[in-house]
Amino acid sequence: MLKPHKLAKNNFLSSLDLSTEEVIHILDLAKNFKNKELNIDLKNKVLGLIFDKSSTRTRVSFQVAMTRLGGTTIDLNPTTSQIGRGEPINDTARVLSRYCDVLAVRTFNHSDLEEYAKWSNKPVINALTDLEHPCQILADFLTIKEEFRDFKNVVLTFVGDGNNVANSLILCGALLGVEVRIACPKGYEPNESIIKKAGEIYKDKNLLKITNDPHKAVLGSNVLYTDVWSSMGEENLKEKKDNDFNGFTIDSNLVSKAYKDAIILHCLPAYRSKEITDEVIDSRQSRIFDQAENRMHVQQALLACLLS
Ligand code: CP
Ligand code: NVA
Repeated sequence: MLKPHKLAKNNFLSSLDLSTEEVIHILDLAKNFKNKELNIDLKNKVLGLIFDKSSTRTRVSFQVAMTRLGGTTIDLNPTTSQIGRGEPINDTARVLSRYCDVLAVRTFNHSDLEEYAKWSNKPVINALTDLEHPCQILADFLTIKEEFRDFKNVVLTFVGDGNNVANSLILCGALLGVEVRIACPKGYEPNESIIKKAGEIYKDKNLLKITNDPHKAVLGSNVLYTDVWSSMGEENLKEKKDNDFNGFTIDSNLVSKAYKDAIILHCLPAYRSKEITDEVIDSRQSRIFDQAENRMHVQQALLACLLS
């Protein structure tokens, strides 16, 4: 029976906190959890969920993952804890890590997440920041692996904002040697330092392609992926971004230019008819709801590794 390995790093703040072998190990474990072939007992272990932003999938999939492992969760948010009153992160992290065995944090600035990790003496997981969403991306690559068996020759095209989801896709894609194309309007390219780090991982293979032309980008793609145009915290930019992203909708016409067996992914929640049409979300090629389910399986695997 497959056993969870201890990870080299204590925290999971970025896709780059895992090695290629660790990503593969987590995906294998997740598949075993999904097939009910693995039983790990984390009885009496407690996961603290600190969420400064809303969440359906991440919150609930962590809660269910922990319950399935025999542990429990505590749900904290700014309005029901002293976090909203402005208690410093260093105090909050030191206290909560004395009660909990692991913390999952969703917040705005990535540096705040790093501050939690600095002061917590228990593992800290990135449950989404403005810079990265690495738990999401583990579920995405599990979904891709289920479809194509391995990552050889997979071309993944992300059409949308070069934001947190795109950044983590780029990094994990680089670790797995997958060709990642990002098609975004000018000015919405992914973070420079993320692009640089991915380049260092890919070495001489030029497998990260950034373009402003979604129609060219999807040619020869096996996976089409999108995310909302206006992320949490960008509500005031909605009108401008809706205009700037005109032409970047994943619709049937764009899908028809990719490979016939291409699959469609979206991290959700979606603004249907903005970044993706109803027809595409609900199409035969969509794996969006398998992808959402896989959040739970990969997080079970991640928790088992972090707490083993
Ligand atoms: N995909 C994702 O993280 O969804 P939630 O915001 O609902 O957690
Ligand atoms: N980019 C989106 C992802 C939501 C899961 C956001 O940050 O709101």
